[in-house]
Amino acid sequence: MSILVKNGRIVTATDDYVADIFIEGEIVKTIGKDLAIKADKEIDATGKLVFPGGIDPHVHLDMPFMGTYSSDNYETGTRAALFGGTTIVIDFILQKQGNSLRSALEEWRGRSDNNCVGDYSFHMAVTDFNEHTKKEVQEMIEKEGIVSFKTFMAYKGALMIDDRQMIGLMEEVKKHGGLINVHATNGDMIDYLVAKHRAEGKLSPLYHYLSQPEITEAEASERFVDMASYTGCPGYIVHLTCEGALNAVRNATRRNQKMFVETCIQYLVIDASLYEQPDGAKWVMSPPLRQKKDQETLWAGINQGLVQVVATDHCPFKWEQKQMGKDDFSKIPNGHPAIENRMELLYTEGVHKGRITLNKYVEVACTNPAKIFGMFPRKGTIAVGSDADIVIFDPNEKHKISVTTHHMNVDYSGYEGWELTGKVKTVLLRGEVAIDNNECRIEKGFGKFIRRNKVTQVI
Ligand code: URP
Ligand code: ZN
Ligand code: ZN
Repeated sequence: MSILVKNGRIVTATDDYVADIFIEGEIVKTIGKDLAIKADKEIDATGKLVFPGGIDPHVHLDMPFMGTYSSDNYETGTRAALFGGTTIVIDFILQKQGNSLRSALEEWRGRSDNNCVGDYSFHMAVTDFNEHTKKEVQEMIEKEGIVSFKTFMAYKGALMIDDRQMIGLMEEVKKHGGLINVHATNGDMIDYLVAKHRAEGKLSPLYHYLSQPEITEAEASERFVDMASYTGCPGYIVHLTCEGALNAVRNATRRNQKMFVETCIQYLVIDASLYEQPDGAKWVMSPPLRQKKDQETLWAGINQGLVQVVATDHCPFKWEQKQMGKDDFSKIPNGHPAIENRMELLYTEGVHKGRITLNKYVEVACTNPAKIFGMFPRKGTIAVGSDADIVIFDPNEKHKISVTTHHMNVDYSGYEGWELTGKVKTVLLRGEVAIDNNECRIEKGFGKFIRRNKVTQVI
């Protein structure tokens, strides 16, 4: 099967030009002006933007968490991602404390194998670093192509590791060419504040926010950056939300440290005032939404190159699940749905409103995640030899976000009624038309697990 995408405005992290793209099988074969090549199918992209497929490196699909499971499974989640222009996601495997990484991988494969519509890969969350886990790190990197290891500095008793384990893991991961991701908030401080608020009878969603003040994130981010500097291990801070934490990271740049920062679309566009609404539980996530001044810091951080990735931390729960915490904020499952909205929201709020350039948009939504996580140049760009993961995007089409039209398996939207400018029209995944005319054209099982390269090769 071959496809010729004609006359689109091709935008990568560095280029912006009008040309044709000839795709054969799964791969981009030729790019050029007015290509005189016959293809099985032609797509006219005149007047449209043509981006590399989006990469969301932070999603939680079908994940056991806080007594329930996130409501998008691998089928519904990767399909919704495709509708929104994201062709590959990186999901998190969670080691169970006391068990091996291998058994966690098998459990996650049981839920994901043959169930994905779009492509996917895994980070491995290490929640119990011991002599056995230490031996498994090399095997995950070299045998399984899982090169990034997630750590939690919060969620004590379930996911959190202490600094001793963190240092040990960093040394091992560095030795074998991997990278450490971190949820950087001070778990003990948060647990103290949660207990205090509960004892005082302060139980509404607002107290979720007030139990995780900015300092809890700034302190942990700084500690993580320092431990990574000491061990020499490359690091990646997930879902960074605020000024204090970003300032802590600036030190890493002074030391020329390999430290990368992800924020998520919600932290750029919505704020903590939502916790005062009666349905505030919809936005209970960790870290919580912050203030307007933090949004400004994050947009600036993107332009300064301090924030390299915009992800989602997609972790949806239906309203009934959120109701588990109707009388106590600490029982509300943490997370919110955004996998389908990220690319269009970032385009509207970022490019259309003049906050970031088109090249920066592609860099933070597509290219940097591929580079940082060992998939570049197979993924994350449009180039001869790359996978033909391509988004054809109408920059002028206006539409609205709504639960009535989205494809995520969740019965509300955190952005209901938001007006967007710019719409994903057609999505190609490895040379196959995946989305066209608001319809998904591929089935579950099409999505492939993508093994990744050691990160030292690309950063
Ligand atoms: O609230 C969140 N972020 N839920 C998912 C788990 C995590 O901390 O990333
Ligand atoms: Zn987290
Ligand atoms: Zn997460």
